[in-house]
Amino acid sequence: MAISFTLNGKSQSVDVSPDMPLLWVLRDTLQMTGTKFGCGMALCGACTVHINGVATRSCITPISSVAGKKVTTIEGLSADGSHPVQKAWIEEDVPQCGYCQSGQIMSAVALLTKKPNPTDADIDDAMSGNICRCGTYQRIRKAIHRAASEMAGKHSAA
Ligand code: FES
Ligand code: FES
Repeated sequence: MAISFTLNGKSQSVDVSPDMPLLWVLRDTLQMTGTKFGCGMALCGACTVHINGVATRSCITPISSVAGKKVTTIEGLSADGSHPVQKAWIEEDVPQCGYCQSGQIMSAVALLTKKPNPTDADIDDAMSGNICRCGTYQRIRKAIHRAASEMAGKHSAA
């Protein structure tokens, strides 16, 4: 039976087993490979997407639970990498191998939506489930502060 949801602002319908993880649907059924497979057990954060705005591990989220909801992946943040968090990541030269980084960015965007001006403790708390084997944590923290400033500037100028 087809399962329908909104993916990056567009209606999407997939005919897959209801217990197939959302990550499998994104990568294998829809060929959207920006979201990464790391552990498959909710331990690393590489597969983080937003479901109705909440950072969620897509590797353990059955597609049936997503029916009627809004899913945002790294591809949905911007068409050209111009989201303030993506720009801050580039400016701070955050990625090393890059594998964990789409999940890191999705968690960072969810944090900044909830807390536009996070402290270091807020960042460490919100990002603790996103593991980086390359140890880019200090640059991630700097990039989140940079994105927060840019977003605050844009907000006050608007
Ligand atoms: S792949 Fe989902 S948390 Fe590691
Ligand atoms: S940049 Fe390599 S795992 Fe994070």
